[in-house]
Amino acid sequence: MIIETNSPLPHHPRPIIVIGAGGIVNDAHLPAYKLAGFWVTGIYDVDREKALRTAEKFDIPLVYLHPEDMLDRSPRSVVFDIAVPGSQILPVLRQLPEGSCVLLQKPMGDDLAMAREIVDLVRTKKMTAGVNFQLRYAPFINAARYIIGQGLIGELIDMEINVNVYTPWHLWRFLYSLPRVEILYHSIHYIDLVRSFFGNPDSIYAKTFQHPGMPELASVRTSIIMDYGPTIRANILTNHTHDFGLQEQHAYIKFEGTRGAIKIKLGLLMNYPEGVPDGFQYCIAQKDKPPVWKTLDIAGSWFPHAFIGSMAQIMLAAEGAIPKPDNSVEDAIHTMACVEAAYESSAQGGIRPSF
Ligand SMILES: NC(=O)c1ccc[n+]([C@@H]2O[C@H](COP(=O)([O-])OP(=O)(O)OC[C@H]3O[C@@H](n4cnc5c(N)ncnc54)[C@H](O)[C@@H]3O)[C@@H](O)[C@H]2O)c1
Repeated sequence: MIIETNSPLPHHPRPIIVIGAGGIVNDAHLPAYKLAGFWVTGIYDVDREKALRTAEKFDIPLVYLHPEDMLDRSPRSVVFDIAVPGSQILPVLRQLPEGSCVLLQKPMGDDLAMAREIVDLVRTKKMTAGVNFQLRYAPFINAARYIIGQGLIGELIDMEINVNVYTPWHLWRFLYSLPRVEILYHSIHYIDLVRSFFGNPDSIYAKTFQHPGMPELASVRTSIIMDYGPTIRANILTNHTHDFGLQEQHAYIKFEGTRGAIKIKLGLLMNYPEGVPDGFQYCIAQKDKPPVWKTLDIAGSWFPHAFIGSMAQIMLAAEGAIPKPDNSVEDAIHTMACVEAAYESSAQGGIRPSF
């Protein structure tokens, strides 16, 4: 059996202008585009030094001094790759010409209200726009989607994302001052992933937690149930404060169907930032035989390979190969609505038992 792990690619890749030269652009966007053969023609950052350093590292020919230069000198077919903090997305989008093609970094604004403003602006300016919820396009997720799509594990009835790791939050100082952290910046990927398999949930139950040793962070652990009715279970459990060595850390995505299961180990999150190897195992039940788990070796990982797929969606829509990106802002706003519901559920609390 040949299992597809690659994301669909455009026939005619478009040039890219990157806006924002921060950590994620250097660690994932640009390495991914290099792998895919996408051409980055220019870069702009309010911090010019960062733009210059990044341009030198990745051989980007143009560093723009001002946003206007970027607009004056951009080829018409360009895709703007916006990787700035969520609060800066709207001001940057307002500067771009009508009809632009854009990929926005997640989160899609700071909350659902801002996400709605982004959708309105994109519609008014007739842009082709998507959000970088790239876990959907990680090679191991492509493989799982292929196996599930072929019906090999039967009907999908269970997804569990379970993360018990130590995350060095001090690497992202900007999170310290924010009212929303774990769900908006991390579990959002899993909410989006679950939606990409099961669609929109009927409701969300959630509680997000602080840690007594990290009072400066609004939340670092979360439990979420995405409710799809009586037979589908979709759970997200994250604990980023397991500071007791690698031995008992784990991070996995498990899919269970009526006739089999898939378990993916997210090596990137363990022993962060060094990581450990990913893992992909699956079991397809055979009648009257004991279950056998098989291992699949998958080339590539979540970072940076998944970032090829999210950019490719914008290019595919721009060349007319698909009507709109799979990660379009119109789809991504539903993930933002789930995030909002999760925070509301957490604030509201559960049902009090009558003791
Ligand atoms: N999809 C993912 O998996 C993923 C992973 C990490 C980060 N992110 C998101 O990407 C965004 C950036 O994260 P980062 O870690 O690179 O942060 P960072 O702070 O390292 O970089 C952000 C960059 O944006 C620049 N910037 C800010 N406002 C700007 C503006 N108006 N115009 C041009 N440049 C501007 C800053 O100078 C900085 O260089 C965040 O929203 C973060 O949540 C997404």
